[in-house]
Amino acid sequence: MTMKGGQAKTTLAINLAARIAKARRKVLLIDSDIQANVTTTFQRDHHCNLAHVILGKVSNFDFIQLDRYLSFLPSGGEAMVEASSYLGHTRFKDSLFKNLLSSINHRIVIIDTAPSWSDVSRNILMYVDYVIVPVVTDYLGFSGCDQIMTYIDQFKAGMLGQCKAEVLGIAITRSHPRTKLAQTITEGLRERWPDLMFSQIVEETVSIQEAPAFQQSIFDYRKGRTSGAEMYDLLCREIMRRIVQQQKNVHNGNLTENE
Ligand SMILES: Nc1ncnc2c1ncn2[C@@H]1O[C@H](COP(=O)(O)OP(=O)(O)O)[C@@H](O)[C@H]1O
Ligand SMILES: [Mg+2]
Repeated sequence: MTMKGGQAKTTLAINLAARIAKARRKVLLIDSDIQANVTTTFQRDHHCNLAHVILGKVSNFDFIQLDRYLSFLPSGGEAMVEASSYLGHTRFKDSLFKNLLSSINHRIVIIDTAPSWSDVSRNILMYVDYVIVPVVTDYLGFSGCDQIMTYIDQFKAGMLGQCKAEVLGIAITRSHPRTKLAQTITEGLRERWPDLMFSQIVEETVSIQEAPAFQQSIFDYRKGRTSGAEMYDLLCREIMRRIVQQQKNVHNGNLTENE
């Protein structure tokens, strides 16, 4: 989640979902962005999309099966405007996101978000466990990261404990690590959010840019034999390890509370 476009949200969402599917875990990828970049990447026209689901136009969910373990729910494109305004009136009471996420048999759901703070993103925040913030080490990267972290904090404070979403981590998703600017921004991020930064940095690489043009994740593009695949593999493993660790902490916390 970020307020800025071009931070590699979509790239991260596609590749993280693909990596989890490669580990033979069932995963659902949802495109919630009006720009529908994941949807365009996979070029699938489908009768059931997120806008239909939010607006109650479908009675049961029918996902696109991208491969054995990876399902996909496309965005409604322009119809997401209507969906967003509908969600704006529900005041989180009977959000269809809740029904959507609780009625499916996928334990892992990855949602690609729009670069905006809309009713759709707020509803998503209400029903996810974790948020990942991607950041590009250009000169606005730091402030973009700061802005979304502040928005999330303020939103959670305003929801008085009802919003349980935690920022899982901040991932550098596009960087020229040898430049002074990238080094300064990376240091600044690590200083400001030492516990949240993922250590694996994804460098600027052509393969990461090319893979979507072939409708592939970085792990399928050129049989996964690219430096982009290697860097994304390490980042995704780190993300998955952190989720497992967080869940252990929650479990242990619950046990302590019950003692
Ligand atoms: N590490 C990278 N190296 C090169 N290009 C990248 C990298 N990460 C993302 N890109 C490219 O940057 C552009 C923006 O990424 P995208 O995932 O669409 O960002 P967002 O969803 O945040 O707007 C896309 O063209 C994508 O292919
Ligand atoms: Mg995007």
